[in-house]
Amino acid sequence: SDTALRLDLPATIAHRGLSALAPENTLAAVRAAHAAGHHWVELDVQLLGDGTPVIWHDAGVRRCSNGRGKLNQLTWDSASRLDVGRWFDRAFSDERMATLDAMLALLAELGMGLNLEMKVNRGRDVDALVERVLPDAMQALPAERLLVSSFDMTALNAVRRLAPDPQHLALGLLYKKLPRDWEDNAARLEAFSLHLDWQRLKLTQAQEVAASPYRLLCYTVNDAKAYRRLCEWGVDAVISDDPGQLTR
Ligand code: G3P
Ligand code: MG
Repeated sequence: SDTALRLDLPATIAHRGLSALAPENTLAAVRAAHAAGHHWVELDVQLLGDGTPVIWHDAGVRRCSNGRGKLNQLTWDSASRLDVGRWFDRAFSDERMATLDAMLALLAELGMGLNLEMKVNRGRDVDALVERVLPDAMQALPAERLLVSSFDMTALNAVRRLAPDPQHLALGLLYKKLPRDWEDNAARLEAFSLHLDWQRLKLTQAQEVAASPYRLLCYTVNDAKAYRRLCEWGVDAVISDDPGQLTR
């Protein structure tokens, strides 16, 4: 709303860093986003088994590293030995998993904005994640450059409990499909934005959100034609693997 915090939110956000050109959710992907002139990135955060917060999307490490197994069964000692770049391209073979702390330090150094997605994979301790992650993120980045989102309502409730003032923390509700009760949830959480899957978004829904006090973000938009249509629909920002390919 107009009384809410004003974020320095650009029209495009690099998804998992510049994940079209570098291994997703790594320091290299954030450096690549910065080098390409993008000011904000979306990143996923989870806890390792030993409680270390790391930037990672999947429940396991198989797809994006040279190891296997579940993330919540790894310690930092073992996770830090994984090669998390070579699966993407040999040029990235020295890349290591990013801790939240290292990532926040890089973003602060580069002056970048962060849409931090609290990624709750099956069976994970939601409160432990939020309590471990949120204070560090709020400490590292100014409020205008931080937007915390999640598909998980329990996580969003915990975030708002720890940071009750919407002026101090912008919160985004992630949905695969817009539910009927979205506006109740957004109001209760004093949300900043809704983040919706553009492929399931209907014009009438976009109009409904555009008429509300909440910003509308869409993920994951990699098609220039779709981007132009979404802009016409009143979408405020899109999350893209390669925002440089999107032109109005
Ligand atoms: O935050 C937008 C998008 O990242 C949500 O889906 O699976 O890519 O984390 P996912
Ligand atoms: Mg994500």
